[in-house]
Amino acid sequence: MSASRISRVPVKKAQGAGKLGNQGKLSRASPQFVSPPTTSLPKRANPLLTNPPREVRRRLSPKGMAFLGMGVLVGSAYVGMLYASYQRDLERSRTLQIPPDVSDRYQRTAASYDAEVDMSETLMRMGTKREELVKRARGDVLEVSCGTGRNMEYYELGEKVVIDSKGRASVQGCRSVTFSDLSPEMVELARQKYEVKMKDKNKNKNKNKEKVQVSVAFKAQDAGSIAPPEGRPHFDTVVQTMGLCSMPDPVGVLQHLGSITEPREGRILLLEHGRSHYAWVNRILDDVAPAHADKHGCWWNRDIGEIVRQSGLEVVEMKRWHLGTTWQFVLRPIEKV
Ligand SMILES: C[S@@+](CC[C@H](N)C(=O)[O-])C[C@H]1O[C@@H](n2cnc3c(N)ncnc32)[C@H](O)[C@@H]1O
Repeated sequence: MSASRISRVPVKKAQGAGKLGNQGKLSRASPQFVSPPTTSLPKRANPLLTNPPREVRRRLSPKGMAFLGMGVLVGSAYVGMLYASYQRDLERSRTLQIPPDVSDRYQRTAASYDAEVDMSETLMRMGTKREELVKRARGDVLEVSCGTGRNMEYYELGEKVVIDSKGRASVQGCRSVTFSDLSPEMVELARQKYEVKMKDKNKNKNKNKEKVQVSVAFKAQDAGSIAPPEGRPHFDTVVQTMGLCSMPDPVGVLQHLGSITEPREGRILLLEHGRSHYAWVNRILDDVAPAHADKHGCWWNRDIGEIVRQSGLEVVEMKRWHLGTTWQFVLRPIEKV
C-alpha cells in the first residue's frame, strides 16, 4: 500500500464517523475524531507524497513567451551560422597553403573590422576587459597594433595627482598617447574615431573646467621598429590588444617593445587571444586555423604564454578567461644590472 493511501484511510473513517454523529461538523474535541498517523510512515515511503511541494510554476506572460521565443530563435540561428562557417573553414583548411605573415589582410578588411568583431566581443564582454586593462596606462603611452582604435575610449587622457587611502601621492593618467598600426587603413580609421568620439569627450571635460593636457599622435608603422617618444628614451606604458596573433614575429616584437619601455615602473599591457586550457578547443582552433588566418589575418591558435616566455619579459600579472583563450598579461622589461 502506498504512503498516501495509508494516510488517507483513517481520515476517511473519521470523516464518515463525523457525518453520522455530529451532522457534518468534525472537531478535535469530538470523540469521533481520529488523528491521521503523521509520524509512523514506513521508511521506504516518499515524504513528498504526504507533503507535496507547493506549486511553484508561474505562468509566463505572452510578451515574455514572445521574447523567449525570439531569444531561442536568434540564439539557434547564431549557433547554426557558426557551425556552418566552421564546416566551410574546415573544408578550406585542408587544402590551403598560407604563409605565416597574413598581416596584409587588414588592408582589405579594415572598413568591416568593427562590424565583424562587435557581436562576439559583446557576447564575451570584451569591452570590460579592455577597459580594465587600458585604464592602467599612464605617462607617455604607446599602443601598437591599435587597429580601428577600439581601446581609445578607455584611456584616461591627461595626467593628474591622485592620493591613495594611505595618503601616498602618485601621478596617473596619460601625458601622451601614440596610436600605431602596420596598416595605414586601420590607423586612418582610428584617427577618424578619435576626431568624432574623443574630441567631444575632451570638450565636455573642458566645459567642466578640467584642462586636458595630452598630445595624441597616429602612426602607420611596424610594431617591431617603433622608436621611443621624442626626447625620451622610453615609453611609460605600451598597450597591445589582439595583436600577437597577427604578426609574423611576435616574440621579436615583444622583445623590441621591452627595449622601449621604462625599465623600473614601465609596463607592457597585453590582452590577447590564442590557445585554450582544453585540448578539444585547441583541436578546433588548429583544424580551421589556415582558413581563419587567410580570411581574418590572424593565427588564433598561437600559444600566447609560450610567446611571452620566449620574449624574456617579466610577468607581473597574468589572467585567462573564455576557456583560457583570452589572455591578459602585465609585463615589464627585466632590469639589466
Ligand atoms: C586583430 S587586429 C587587432 C586590432 C585592435 N588592437 C583590437 O584590439 O581590435 C590586429 C592588428 O594588428 C596589426 N598588425 C599586424 N602586424 C603588425 C605589426 N607587425 N606591427 C603593427 N601592427 C600590426 C594589424 O594591422 C591589425 O590592425
